[in-house]
Amino acid sequence: MPSTVQVNQNILEMEYAVRGPIPQRAAKLKEEGKNIIFCNIGNPQALGQKPLSFSRQVISLIEEPAKIARERAIKELFEESPASPLREEDFISEEILSLSEKVLAKTGKGVGAYTESKGYFFVREAIAEFINRRDGFAPASDLAASPEQIFLTDGASDAAKRVLDLLIAKKTDGVMIPIPQYPLYSASIKMFGGVQVNYYPDEEHDWALKRNALENAYTKATQEGTKIKAIVVINPGNPTGAILDVKSVHEVIAFAKAHGLAIIADEVYQENLYGGEFVSFAKALGEEKDVPLFSLHSISKGFYGECGHRGGYLEVRNPPRIEGAEMGFIDLLLKQASVSLCANSIGQVMTYLMVSPPEKEGGVHQKFIAEKEKVLSDLYEKATMVRAAFKKMDGMEVFGKTGAMYFFPRLSKLPEGTDDFDYCMALLEETGLCTVNGSGFGLKNHLRIAFLPSKEQLAEVLPRWIAFHNRYVNR
Ligand SMILES: Cc1ncc(COP(=O)(O)O)c(C=O)c1O
Repeated sequence: MPSTVQVNQNILEMEYAVRGPIPQRAAKLKEEGKNIIFCNIGNPQALGQKPLSFSRQVISLIEEPAKIARERAIKELFEESPASPLREEDFISEEILSLSEKVLAKTGKGVGAYTESKGYFFVREAIAEFINRRDGFAPASDLAASPEQIFLTDGASDAAKRVLDLLIAKKTDGVMIPIPQYPLYSASIKMFGGVQVNYYPDEEHDWALKRNALENAYTKATQEGTKIKAIVVINPGNPTGAILDVKSVHEVIAFAKAHGLAIIADEVYQENLYGGEFVSFAKALGEEKDVPLFSLHSISKGFYGECGHRGGYLEVRNPPRIEGAEMGFIDLLLKQASVSLCANSIGQVMTYLMVSPPEKEGGVHQKFIAEKEKVLSDLYEKATMVRAAFKKMDGMEVFGKTGAMYFFPRLSKLPEGTDDFDYCMALLEETGLCTVNGSGFGLKNHLRIAFLPSKEQLAEVLPRWIAFHNRYVNR
């Protein structure tokens, strides 16, 4: 008889719908040989998105530095033999070879060694420059990002967990999260023993954030004895896909200032805009010094889609003082980071490449831009196909501009006695399309679909979905 063990109740009780019962059933059906289209998670390369050549070539050379000299030697042989069937494009360009050498030199002894706990300094410096460029901060100015306040992490999930772990000090400490939300937040708040405080973006107004909705959530939770420490904002949104307008961003800052809260800005979809405008919290915060900001970014999304490489960063602005301790907040984050020694080195280098794309002058730049635009325009085309299909489904309503990688439509005509879980399960069984029901993100009568499968797959499955839907809701 195996022995029993008492485990952390918080982990036992936490939920994570994107890998929950519907995806589990989908995996089972796949095992049984059924054709399943996984739209339950934003994992672009799992659905066929090609990695960018530029970053993958650099990473491969950094992993095996001897390849750099070998590439050059082979290329020289080729240049000396005009009859060779090979062409110039068959070789990794000199620009990539020398960039890889440069990056390798910056790592010191290569990527097999632990890095600083905050992450490689050269990567943090490049991130600071990226933020300054993105937000128009003059490099030496007061607003300029500081490499000292940037931490490399194993993806944005790791960054979010670190911040929540530090801010949740007592069982009564609460963190406000949008509903619907990405379950990383509800699960982590549960894991660290805090209180999840829901606030509700205005669905019918492009999921805008309104001050009264924030105040209502705050007042109710405070009256119930919760001490709210922070507010999480996901922009562009997951699961909604919505891009926040500037007014909403300022509304959150004013609200956080009024109540002494920190802002956790999850900005991992900042490149997935399809013509929409992204305003970072760092930029909107400007000279404001009273509101602590933790902003997160990742290599998993945008046009990189390098989810498996686990890279990302946390930038801190206006770090709060720690009650009852002399230690600074950045030093505390460093202490926390040092327990895991460092974020994985390849994820750090990927993050470096994300924030320092190839220089304009070189040939690599052109290819990079072409690949980037292809990924983003494909995503937009796929989103447009899905949106057009919704129009043919009775009572399927979708709000907000297209952003991130998702739609979160409302199922406003579900038959009596059924819910969004039943709908998604039946959709899976009948069409092989794996989505996640809205309840998994905290909002009933909705579903989330990641618009990531290939256009061919969508063209094949969408008519079947429309037929299923209209039959299901009108039965
Ligand atoms: C809003 C949001 N934040 C964070 C993450 C996690 O990103 P990472 O792979 O960098 O941990 C995701 C992943 O889908 C996400 O949608």
